[in-house]
Amino acid sequence: MPDTLAPTPSNRPDLPTEIARRRTFAIISHPDAGKTTLTEKFLLYGGAIQMAGQVRAKGEARRTRSDFMQMEKDRGISVSASAMSFDYKKFRFNLVDTPGHSDFSEDTYRTLTAVDAAVMVIDGAKGVESQTQKLFEVCRLRDLPILTFCNKMDREARDTFDIIDEIQENLAIDVTPASWPIGMGREFLGCYDMLRDRLELMDRADRNKVAETIEMNGLDDPLLDKHVPAEQLAKLREEVEMARELLPALDPQSVLEGHMTPIWFGSAINSFGVKELMDGIGTYGPEPQIQNATPRKIAPEEEKVTGFVFKVQANMDPKHRDRVAFVRLASGHFHRGMKLTHVRSKKQMAITNPVLFLAADRELAEEAWAGDIIGIPNHGQLRIGDTLTEGEALRVSGIPSFAPELLQTVRAGDPMKAKHLEKALMQFAEEGAAKVFKPAFGSGFIVGVVGALQFEVLGSRIELEYGLPVRFEGSQFTSARWVHGPQDKVDAFIAANKQHIGHDNDGDVVYLTRLQWDIDRVARDYPDITLSSTKEMMV
Ligand code: G4P
Repeated sequence: MPDTLAPTPSNRPDLPTEIARRRTFAIISHPDAGKTTLTEKFLLYGGAIQMAGQVRAKGEARRTRSDFMQMEKDRGISVSASAMSFDYKKFRFNLVDTPGHSDFSEDTYRTLTAVDAAVMVIDGAKGVESQTQKLFEVCRLRDLPILTFCNKMDREARDTFDIIDEIQENLAIDVTPASWPIGMGREFLGCYDMLRDRLELMDRADRNKVAETIEMNGLDDPLLDKHVPAEQLAKLREEVEMARELLPALDPQSVLEGHMTPIWFGSAINSFGVKELMDGIGTYGPEPQIQNATPRKIAPEEEKVTGFVFKVQANMDPKHRDRVAFVRLASGHFHRGMKLTHVRSKKQMAITNPVLFLAADRELAEEAWAGDIIGIPNHGQLRIGDTLTEGEALRVSGIPSFAPELLQTVRAGDPMKAKHLEKALMQFAEEGAAKVFKPAFGSGFIVGVVGALQFEVLGSRIELEYGLPVRFEGSQFTSARWVHGPQDKVDAFIAANKQHIGHDNDGDVVYLTRLQWDIDRVARDYPDITLSSTKEMMV
């Protein structure tokens, strides 16, 4: 076996074909709607796991606070689930996990910069819940195509039209039924596939059995009478007729533009509707898309390889202090051993140990294509937002860093360990787990997060991974804003506002305050200075 798979003219694989079969997506849902169960079935049908139950730990671990911390400690579980690749029919699916907890909105946002589509899972009894709505809004910011799976139809669910109306109204998106449920709860028989005119019957006796499919010649096919009791059939015919009259027909272009979502009904736990959804992702989901970058956009079919870091995970292996940068390939055909330019530092990096994530396993990625997610172990050179290219000075844009909403001062339990603490904090800041500011005046560090739970997770990770007990204390500041402007004006601003100035882990200047009044004052008194609550993660 050669060490690398450098393409030669004779084995040069076909870039457009490889790209066309890739589907890179995330699942968004409210906790408990069935994301873990659905993920598991995806992996099962993708041949990535042998039996249901292997990713179970994750769903359960998330239930309570302390379990969630345990999950964070047990890097193995959450990390292997961060990105998973598997084949389904002619497609290569790359499923990127969105962090489960609502606190991690920034992390979630960045995850969604790495995907081309999202699958929205809703609970048929509950409809659109708060977390789904939030995640949906984030997808909308990027016009991501959304495919919807209405889960738990084996339980009492809402009326089908009501569910569709609710999605249309709450999320302001057209909904088109891809399948139509026949009964619900105890009476749930299966679905009529409206796109392919097929009857799909659920096997209640065996949860792991895939539905029986019977081809139909439309809804008037007498074969239907054989399989569906008269009363349910009459209702099905009436409802589908109404649906075809009242609801928009599937418009693939509108789906790709994010204006329309097809909805499948099913029951993940009973393996029902999942394959239809997977077929739908293949047929209607987008191929890898053009990536925004400066000074020009990147098209996936470009021969040259480019990619960007959307997540950094430290201490995946507690024995080694290395980190893994999750890189979404934006273009080209990557092969192991390639030398890529790290645009921020202008240095070349030989990518010798890239990893592909296959469910619970990691394996060396001999090659990968635009749309794929690879992990690159490194010693801290790679940060969120960084771009890798074959030499061109391109920078992927649109990966923001948000101003934290909660600030606290952090101190080491043992004051002699302040230096160690600084190292730990810098690492977490680079990972994107928190913002760390060093105030120009006074000692210690100020840590900023978006959700309160992050303080706990951070405290526990510093203790676990660095053996450093830490204390969080209230800070005199409550907000942080990045300072932008012409250098001389920024210098003058810093000189005049020293008590409010700090630097983040990249050395960028921030203005720290506890009063909106201060922020308004700066706007009034310093017309050349802009205070911003986001900073694009590129330098
Ligand atoms: P999440 O990742 O979105 O939080 O949801 P998860 O898959 O963990 O599912 C939440 C609960 O809903 C689980 O039950 C799961 O078994 C159940 N569930 C998932 N899909 C279906 C479905 O199609 N029908 C029904 N009836 N239930 C479903 P649990 O009792 O919390 O856990 P477990 O004891 O089943 O493991």
